[in-house]
Amino acid sequence: MSVNPQTKSATKAGVIGWPVAHSLSPALHTYWLKKYDLEGSYELLPTEPHRLGESLQTLGARGFCGANVTVPHKEFAAQAMDHLDATAAALSAVNLIIVRQDGSLEGRNTDGFGFVENLKAGVPGIDLKDTNVCLLGAGGTTKAVAYALLQEGAKLWITNRTQSKAEALKEQLEICAKGDIHIVPWSERSLALEDVKLLVNTTSLGMAAQPALSLDLDRLSTDVVVTDCVYAPLQTELLKNAKANGCRTVDGLGMLIHQARPAFRAWFGVDPQVTDELREILIQRQRELST
Ligand SMILES: NC(=O)c1ccc[n+]([C@@H]2O[C@H](COP(=O)([O-])OP(=O)(O)OC[C@H]3O[C@@H](n4cnc5c(N)ncnc54)[C@H](OP(=O)(O)O)[C@@H]3O)[C@@H](O)[C@H]2O)c1
Repeated sequence: MSVNPQTKSATKAGVIGWPVAHSLSPALHTYWLKKYDLEGSYELLPTEPHRLGESLQTLGARGFCGANVTVPHKEFAAQAMDHLDATAAALSAVNLIIVRQDGSLEGRNTDGFGFVENLKAGVPGIDLKDTNVCLLGAGGTTKAVAYALLQEGAKLWITNRTQSKAEALKEQLEICAKGDIHIVPWSERSLALEDVKLLVNTTSLGMAAQPALSLDLDRLSTDVVVTDCVYAPLQTELLKNAKANGCRTVDGLGMLIHQARPAFRAWFGVDPQVTDELREILIQRQRELST
């Protein structure tokens, strides 16, 4: 085993969620730990909501250098941090915790970073500045993705089943980011595709065991890039239909992988590579978890 370049003693990390048994993060971080021959481990940390506060406060004492945070704990975790980076503060949500040397907790949010990095890896040279983007959804993922897209200079058309949530999201985003944000009624979502250059599904529609996403792609021109945050299944109906339409598509697994890079670097001291081998391992793990 190598000595990790930046970490001192604690080399244990994990993912806090409820439920969390379906998480691919242990397979992801364990792959990198082995690849870079580093000391460390990554475990599932199933945490019921009423135990979250205690679980966070004792992370360091239990030997953790940090943790990921997933559904449904991202917002509460942000309130429990001693320090937040600018993105986590803007989103009031944390998906990455670092236990600092003095024992205090630092919260970051890397979901939007993962989204943009995945998009840039999937469509090399993509320029998001002044690009019209249609975002389906207004949940936690939409907030992180929308914020990251605004930072890149994109213009957003947000459409969500519950319009009041889209409007609330617009208000929140306008407090923390600059840029054009428009709301489109859910019933008119197919019409909103006419002038967009990027279409993003941030709803849970199309995910295994969830309802299908109903979207008419007739108005989508073939130079539009279509991406789905859903990664189980990897090729969602949206991506299949977009591909059949002649559009370039980017699946959601890379978002998961790229959002994990800053976490691995912060805990274990190495900026890890995203490889085809890693993708295959995660696809296989996803198959095992779904059976
Ligand atoms: N690739 C990655 O790394 C990554 C990271 C995070 C999340 N995700 C995926 O992103 C998806 C969303 O996660 P989230 O945490 O943002 O969930 P969330 O906060 O619960 O939001 C769910 C969204 O889906 C919409 N929705 C749910 N059921 C619907 C229905 N029957 N008809 C129309 N809209 C519906 C909701 O609309 P309403 O507001 O009307 O309820 C809301 O906009 C999940 O599939 C998750 O696995 C992927």
